[in-house]
Amino acid sequence: MQRRRFIQTLCVASAGLMVGCNSTPKMVQARRKNNSLFIYKSEFSLVNMIQVAHEKAAVGVTKIDNDNYQAVLLNCTHMGCAVDINNSENGFVCPCHGAKFSPNGKVLKGPAKENLQQFQVSSNSEYVIVHL
Ligand code: FES
Repeated sequence: MQRRRFIQTLCVASAGLMVGCNSTPKMVQARRKNNSLFIYKSEFSLVNMIQVAHEKAAVGVTKIDNDNYQAVLLNCTHMGCAVDINNSENGFVCPCHGAKFSPNGKVLKGPAKENLQQFQVSSNSEYVIVHL
């Protein structure tokens, strides 16, 4: 009995580590309708932050809880580089000069002085909807 419980615990811990150690940002294609991006909620089943392809710059979407999400334009306000998701620090980082931003786009570390552009976000039972 103890051996079975140990193996179950090991499997759960390993699955948690694999999700937690996954530093590659999840790239998602969203359906665009009018001026909104529709993202399946299921895209957030294993990660809390995803990157959505968009025209000029990608959009970073963060799951706060099942009904609350935040979205920002992943375009650095310092000199316009593409900002990356940083899963290990739960935020965004600019690879050009090291600026860091919170999930809602607030500047945490310069040289950027202005926050990332935020978008309104809503959700229904199936989709997270980013209003561009
Ligand atoms: S362009 Fe992002 S920190 Fe300079």
